[in-house]
Amino acid sequence: MRVTIFGTGYVGLVQAAVLADVGYDVVCVDVDPTKVERLKRGEVPIYEPGLERLVQENYAAKRLHFTTDAKHGVDHGDVQFIAVGTPPDEDGSADLKYVLAVADTIAEHMEEHRVVIVKSTVPVGTSDKVRAQLEKRLKTRERKDLTFDVASNPEFLKEGSAVADCTKPDRIIIGVASPETEQVLRELYAPFNRNHEKIIAMDIRSAELTKYAANCMLATKISFMNEIANLADILGADIERVRHGIGSDPRIGYQFIYPGVGYGGSCFPKDVQALIRTADEIKFDATVLKSVEKRNNEQKRFLVDKVMKHFNGDISGKTFAVWGLAFKPNTDDMREAPARVVMEALWKAGAKVRAFDPKAMEECHRIYGDRDDLVLCEEQDDTLEGADALIVITEWKNFQAPDYRDLKAKLKEPVIFDGRNIYDPKVVQRYGMTVYGVGRRS
Ligand code: UGA
Repeated sequence: MRVTIFGTGYVGLVQAAVLADVGYDVVCVDVDPTKVERLKRGEVPIYEPGLERLVQENYAAKRLHFTTDAKHGVDHGDVQFIAVGTPPDEDGSADLKYVLAVADTIAEHMEEHRVVIVKSTVPVGTSDKVRAQLEKRLKTRERKDLTFDVASNPEFLKEGSAVADCTKPDRIIIGVASPETEQVLRELYAPFNRNHEKIIAMDIRSAELTKYAANCMLATKISFMNEIANLADILGADIERVRHGIGSDPRIGYQFIYPGVGYGGSCFPKDVQALIRTADEIKFDATVLKSVEKRNNEQKRFLVDKVMKHFNGDISGKTFAVWGLAFKPNTDDMREAPARVVMEALWKAGAKVRAFDPKAMEECHRIYGDRDDLVLCEEQDDTLEGADALIVITEWKNFQAPDYRDLKAKLKEPVIFDGRNIYDPKVVQRYGMTVYGVGRRS
């Protein structure tokens, strides 16, 4: 079986590299010629552990190809993945123009049966639209003799562990309308389904909704915990104790109940919003999802409120050391990152920022450019020079055990605002410092 993947973004590129690595001949099609040239040179535009090596090795082994030539891509693959972006529209619903443009391209060039697999995260009903687009195009070509099928195959990889998630998936969701197509997808994923059954086959709409339900459930856990943390803060309880206490119940579990400064990234905020819009369209009031989103937007301001309170409402002229810009560790991604909300609020209140992130410095510069109130420091320690206090926004490994003596000596006020609860207040206090966590009792 030969594979073509449209879109060399996060999902498309990781999927392509992982499929090539098990032996498939994979052609990646992208409309951006610069990106295609860079990929041919082995340059991966995103930071993702293990991905660059996988791309370089499989490209050298001629199992992975990059092109802007859509016709070549359509000729090549028995299966055609659509893995292009679905950016949020102005109203928060997913914009399908790229997905449908690929469907149109496939129908324009196909000369024999093709299985079109929708990998992009798309609202329920999109596969039907893809099918309609293909039919329409084949009709204008007067090639109604050509057959195709559409399948939904959502992706569940996490940034920072995308290669591992894709190589060893927890589950492989396939939404199909015919047993023949189910068979094609089973064959495709057989190398990833060897030890125990991971394929869960279902109808297309259920597969499409599964993707949103998974992300929205995780986002709900986080927003719920943030709400309880805020309550703990006021009630004088310690959320870390509470987290242990409830996580020990296997029905609740320990995962995704870490409170913090809100969830970010390219998935949770966008997917929660998109499902709310889908519900709105059918006049269904998605009250839980709306609350999840509201809590998250408010949570991103939690640390700033703590800062303001500590400094009696005036931080004008103050300088803050900020550790962590990416929306989570092990990525350079700053999309919807809480750090953006925090820094922008500090700037608005007249403060300056000295920031450091192990991977997202370039991305931060790309977003904010040169400005007087932002210094991007090459070393973590440099952020402390002349800083009034430290704000930690992302829980990178290197931030976990700082030299508290050094912090105390360098900061004008011995205060840490810990947006991820990585510091034990008792330890910090031993060094004569104060830490404000999220729902922590000091
Ligand atoms: C998420 C899902 O976890 C993946 O399963 C899914 O495939 C992906 O979206 C997607 O739809 O493509 P990702 O956005 O890479 O993956 O990141 P996560 O590790 O899920 O973290 C998302 C956000 O939640 C981060 O800002 C993180 O800091 C925050 N978070 C996570 C918490 O605040 N608390 C937690 O307990 C866990």
